[in-house]
Amino acid sequence: MDTPICDFVKNYIKKGYSRFHMPGHKGKGGFYKYDVTEINGADVLYNSDGIIEASRQNATKLFESFATFYSTEGSSLSIKAMVGAVCDGAAEPLILAGRNSHKAFIYACALLNVEVSWLYPKSSGHLTECAITPDVLQNNLKNAPRLPTAVYLTSPDYLGNTLDIKGLSEVCKSFNIPLLIDNAHGAYLKFLTPSMHPISLGATMCVDSAHKTLPVLTGGGYLHIAKNGAKYLEAVKRLLPTFASTSPSYLILQSLDRANLILSKNFTKKINKTIAKLNAIKTVLAKNGVSFIDDEPLKLSVAVAKNGYTYTDFCDLLRKFNIEAEFIDCDYAVFMVSPFNGGLDFLRLKLALSTIKPKTQIKDTPVNLTVGERKLSVKDAVFSKQIVVNVDESLGKICASVTVSCPPAVPIVICGEVITQTHISLFKRYGIKTVSVVVD
Ligand SMILES: Cc1ncc(COP(=O)(O)O)c(C=O)c1O
Repeated sequence: MDTPICDFVKNYIKKGYSRFHMPGHKGKGGFYKYDVTEINGADVLYNSDGIIEASRQNATKLFESFATFYSTEGSSLSIKAMVGAVCDGAAEPLILAGRNSHKAFIYACALLNVEVSWLYPKSSGHLTECAITPDVLQNNLKNAPRLPTAVYLTSPDYLGNTLDIKGLSEVCKSFNIPLLIDNAHGAYLKFLTPSMHPISLGATMCVDSAHKTLPVLTGGGYLHIAKNGAKYLEAVKRLLPTFASTSPSYLILQSLDRANLILSKNFTKKINKTIAKLNAIKTVLAKNGVSFIDDEPLKLSVAVAKNGYTYTDFCDLLRKFNIEAEFIDCDYAVFMVSPFNGGLDFLRLKLALSTIKPKTQIKDTPVNLTVGERKLSVKDAVFSKQIVVNVDESLGKICASVTVSCPPAVPIVICGEVITQTHISLFKRYGIKTVSVVVD
């Protein structure tokens, strides 16, 4: 597979032009020479007909989508365009969404004035978990006072739980509703055998943060449209530039372009080897009676409190072995692996996690997200007159702006909902001290 964007920039550097164009660093120093802008021949990201178009077509082939678009602003940008595209032209757009949606979805709904009906998980768990099954979705749609414009779900979630996308997409199909998937954590799923990528499993559109699991610089992402979503193509093309910066990073574009080459060369084989290495560690954990989540093949989420450890114990343990995890809270430590983790990384992880000796579970306040009392739409709350108050003074007030612990950036209370004592307990649990509320 060719790399038209990388080749163009390399050639441009070789020619040694005097740069009387942006950016101001003029290519001086380290990697700066690769950082160009939309100069002659460099194409235009969202009006592409040259090198970017050729590269984008490569990505479309790799992901076997109807159309794949690049984002240099992560899934956050793609989510806005994807939600906007399905709601385009709808008089009163309504999205049925999993309650574990990332804050980027809330912002999209605020900007696009989209109403949301939330799907809550049956049983309580971590803030990021929301196990929506095809049956749950079927029942919800069957009993809905009005059918939503689209269904929006997150899979995999931050801890590595995945949903039955195939089953869910069949339900959506039977109601003639598009299924949108936040696949920010699952770009690599395309390269499993068989593919577990949402586009392969029947989703209408999905977003991937390429940077989270593939060899792509931070900020690189995709918006994929499946064949069954072809009618959204023109709206996506119009909405991506509506929300995007007019100065896309060519460093990120080159990394997306280069990723096509890497992904086209035995990447599945490399992923399978990596899965085998991680599975060997999972086997040790299982043998030692350690609790962990084992769903997504390139992720490992080890329980913290359930194994009798405190957050601090766990941080100390990892520090001792020179390991930086993706995320740790009092419930889970999340490790993300990729074929770019070397032997030393796996050795350290194995040694560190082998020292875990499960003890009596540390009992903690259960995280019970209750159905919120909605007073304002997300848009009206986000753009309301608001003040920041101490969480202890927020009881009964209407939440104005997205309040999350980051990561996983799942809102504890939805903008426009009344803050309850449960929310306040959750704010405290996640170390949140202040919250923006609507001024009455
Ligand atoms: C589930 C989920 N969706 C969306 C996003 C936003 O992705 P990005 O950071 O690529 O904009 C994130 C980021 O962490 C995420 O975890």
